[in-house]
Amino acid sequence: MKRSFSFIFFVFSVSCIAFASGGAQDFRQYFLVQTWPPVYCQVHRPEPCRIKPSKFVLHGLWPVNSSGRSSTNTNNQTINVPAMLESNKSFAAEMNKFWPSLTRNENEQFWKREWKHHGRGQPNLPPEEYFRTAITLVKAANLEAAFRDAGINPDGDKLNPRKYTRAINPRYGTTPLFKCLNRSLLMEVTLCVDVQATNFVSCIARPSSLSRCRRKIIWAL
Ligand SMILES: *[C@@H]1O[C@H](CO)[C@@H](O)[C@H](O)[C@H]1NC(C)=O
Ligand SMILES: *[C@@H]1O[C@H](CO)[C@@H](O)[C@H](O)[C@H]1NC(C)=O
Ligand SMILES: *[C@@H]1O[C@H](CO)[C@@H](O)[C@H](O)[C@H]1NC(C)=O
Ligand SMILES: *[C@@H]1O[C@H](CO)[C@@H](O)[C@H](O)[C@H]1NC(C)=O
Repeated sequence: MKRSFSFIFFVFSVSCIAFASGGAQDFRQYFLVQTWPPVYCQVHRPEPCRIKPSKFVLHGLWPVNSSGRSSTNTNNQTINVPAMLESNKSFAAEMNKFWPSLTRNENEQFWKREWKHHGRGQPNLPPEEYFRTAITLVKAANLEAAFRDAGINPDGDKLNPRKYTRAINPRYGTTPLFKCLNRSLLMEVTLCVDVQATNFVSCIARPSSLSRCRRKIIWAL
């Protein structure tokens, strides 16, 4: 597992759809993106959140190219989400728990779109395996536990980004990418994963269009 001690802080574009444009096929790694709903839901307009859990939830597992942009259209397989969920109820429960749609009534539509716009950007995992892998990874990447073990709580304190990085780095051997609202409120955390979807690795890029978090990061409810 490679380690990177460079500190990379930036703001992703607010919409994951922005990542889906283009047809790059140079699949280099995955972004495992987790959202902090209390902040995400402050900016998600015009479609307001229907639920706002106070825990990190999975936004997506996004295959990216060497520029950190979503790779697309390398996999033409289709997903039958209802059949996948029907075939294993405990897996369906995990999908609802770890990967809920914050805005849409239909989780199933959200997951279908994630496959269409992101999952198809990699050739290695067939659809069901892609969703299983995403859940396996997000269960392994327990950000809240990592932060709390490092004494960081969602109490609105302004902390140096290095504190957050140091909470993650020893556990996962990799430096996360942070996305902030207004350059300081923690909104999303990305861990990078190798193309086999088995190890956390250093992130190879951050999308160049995105601005950075400031020198302090606030994790707040
Ligand atoms: C990555 O994808 C973006 C968007 O499709 C594209 O503009 C860029 O050239 C690609 N980068 C590489 C290195 O292929
Ligand atoms: C996917 O389907 C499109 C349209 O049928 C085709 O042009 C493309 O080559 C296919 N891609 C792969 C990776 O099979
Ligand atoms: C069903 O899903 C659960 C939870 O992900 C998993 O532990 C179990 O192995 C799955 N069962 C089958 C038959 O795939
Ligand atoms: C973010 O900044 C804008 C513009 O300065 C401000 O109107 C908005 O209230 C801020 N949002 C939060 C959640 O601080």
